[in-house]
Amino acid sequence: AKTTRIAITPGDGIGPEVVAEAVRCLEVLRDKHQLELEWVRFPWPSHAWHEEHGESMPADALQQLQAFDAILLGALGDPGPVNDPDRYLLPDSVSLAPLLQMRKGFDQWVCERPARLLPGARQYLADDRARDIDMLVIRENSEGEYVSQGGRLRQGTRDEIATQIELFTYRATERIIRYGFQQARLRAAQRRADNQSRQFRTQDGRQCDSQVCVITKRNALRYWGDLYTEVFEQVAADYPDVATHHELVDAACMKFVQCPWAFDVVVASNLQGDILTDLAAVLSGGMGVAPSCNLNPDNPELPSMFEPTHGSAPDIAGQGIADPTAMLFTTARMLEWLGRQDRRLAEAGERLFQAVADDLASQHGQARDTRTIGDAVCQRLG
Ligand code: IPM
Ligand code: MN
Repeated sequence: AKTTRIAITPGDGIGPEVVAEAVRCLEVLRDKHQLELEWVRFPWPSHAWHEEHGESMPADALQQLQAFDAILLGALGDPGPVNDPDRYLLPDSVSLAPLLQMRKGFDQWVCERPARLLPGARQYLADDRARDIDMLVIRENSEGEYVSQGGRLRQGTRDEIATQIELFTYRATERIIRYGFQQARLRAAQRRADNQSRQFRTQDGRQCDSQVCVITKRNALRYWGDLYTEVFEQVAADYPDVATHHELVDAACMKFVQCPWAFDVVVASNLQGDILTDLAAVLSGGMGVAPSCNLNPDNPELPSMFEPTHGSAPDIAGQGIADPTAMLFTTARMLEWLGRQDRRLAEAGERLFQAVADDLASQHGQARDTRTIGDAVCQRLG
């Protein structure tokens, strides 16, 4: 197989700290299993790069990254020390822009955020059924509320009007909903292989072993709601084996807390998916363990990007105490994704997932620093 190449972009805050542990795991896996894997580290996008060059990444950044099979990103954003007025501060809209540019530039239209409460992870909900939380939130990642269209009229006056357009196309709606149904089938097949099963009911009362729940706000936002509803019904007709479910986003928030174990695959728009996945992350152990990936499933020429759901956490940066678990799960998912071309990478991804999950299960709730967790996982791999 040809050598698989990864662009490593550690970013800001705790990004470099958790990425360092991911790289150590990749080294162990590469050496032990003779993987045809190499990586290049980039100092951008980052706040530091911006301070030196006046931009978060070089003008040809996307061209440089396009030569890689995947991008492993730590985290972006750095508000600087709160009480230091001399420090050059970068607004979020600037320091986080590269993230959105990469998603857009590489057409990473799927954002996959699994939320599964694994043994050893912190259980925030008191109800012990929380142990069964196992959902995959699929966030539409290419349009919707994130198209950045609109503007400010009569800016700075008391008559100012700001508009922020949400845009939903049939094409992007159809592909994300279909992706959701495909994932539901794959998850059910995986459960069968593991001798597990889950039961969901369709509206007409039939039992299914998987489910897709689509999120809208169609009682108030009609045009988008109708489009999502119609496309959902159309696509669902191709998957009679998958139960369907529709939730309004406000009710979904309530049910995520009340009975999150009742969800399987959840498909949501860009912003609503963003919000729901922070909630889902907490339900499944917190930001320290929540993986995420930005995928382009149909063009192998364009790299997908792997970054945990968490941000750069400036409040704990530099102390070596950030939990690298989310980053390591994200790296495992990256290897599985790359394993579509090279089976051995997929196996390495499964090994890494298992090592991190075993480490989590064995920690008995004690607080460990970044390096200690990285060491423990490397030891399991080696
Ligand atoms: C995320 C983040 C980003 C988003 C921000 C940093 C722009 O919250 O990846 O969930 O809103 O997509
Ligand atoms: Mn977010």
